[in-house]
Amino acid sequence: MIRAKTGISGLDELIGGGMIEGSTVLLSGQSGSGKTIFGLQFLYNGITKYNEPGVFVTLETRPNELRAEAGQFGWDLHILEEKNELVIIDAASNKAGQPTSERYALRRGFDMTMLASEIYRAVEEVKAKRLVIDCISALGIKFSEPSEVRNEIFRISAMLRDERLKVTSLFISEIIEPNSLSRAGVEQFIAQGLITLRLSEVNGALERDLLIWKMKQTPHSLKKHSFKIGKSGIEIATRKSTKTKKS
Ligand SMILES: Nc1ncnc2c1ncn2[C@@H]1O[C@H](COP(=O)(O)OP(=O)(O)O)[C@@H](O)[C@H]1O
Ligand SMILES: [Mg+2]
Repeated sequence: MIRAKTGISGLDELIGGGMIEGSTVLLSGQSGSGKTIFGLQFLYNGITKYNEPGVFVTLETRPNELRAEAGQFGWDLHILEEKNELVIIDAASNKAGQPTSERYALRRGFDMTMLASEIYRAVEEVKAKRLVIDCISALGIKFSEPSEVRNEIFRISAMLRDERLKVTSLFISEIIEPNSLSRAGVEQFIAQGLITLRLSEVNGALERDLLIWKMKQTPHSLKKHSFKIGKSGIEIATRKSTKTKKS
């Protein structure tokens, strides 16, 4: 089985070496928990370390803000876009009622079929092996029934997993209550993996941690892993060895 390494410090060894190539993992967490940074890091590492071009579909953050967010960690998205190794699909400007000059964008209204075809076009153009959708919760507003959301997300996920494309994908989902796994409460059933990022208050300060709830065909960690966002992005704390020396 081929694994797509996230390259995120400390994570791959918790999930059997990386995400299964061509699978879809759902990354869920409340606002500010680090989801967008995680997604950027997964794509940036894929391109620069593992030679896997990527596509970032942004539904809430406009592309220039995304480039700026990545820039603070030294990840220059612009260069990768110029080299045709990265495509950002702007599905945020239109929603915000703003014009866009992006090469890949949803311009006239929001439509799932158009989004799917724009994704297909971008994936083909750069021969993408990785994709991030940030965030699928933003798709939910259009649909009243959770089952409709599920069907649409399922269609996109199936397209990406298809043998012809085989794109390893991260679907980001924003949750409101820390205890629900995803906003629509359905997305996690269609993903091959589920990772949550959390912020919790401990003794008057916020702490970050990551949990792996599901990772098909993988014996994965079931522990709570604290992490920090440092100069080079997300870093998961390595546990101190509790083994005692044999005498
Ligand atoms: N350069 C940085 N160094 C450390 N932490 C940062 C930096 N930039 C952002 N953060 C932290 O990351 C959070 C935003 O992360 P983000 O991935 O955008 O969250 P989400 O997408 O889950 O809403 C900020 O609220 C801040 O706590
Ligand atoms: Mg975000």
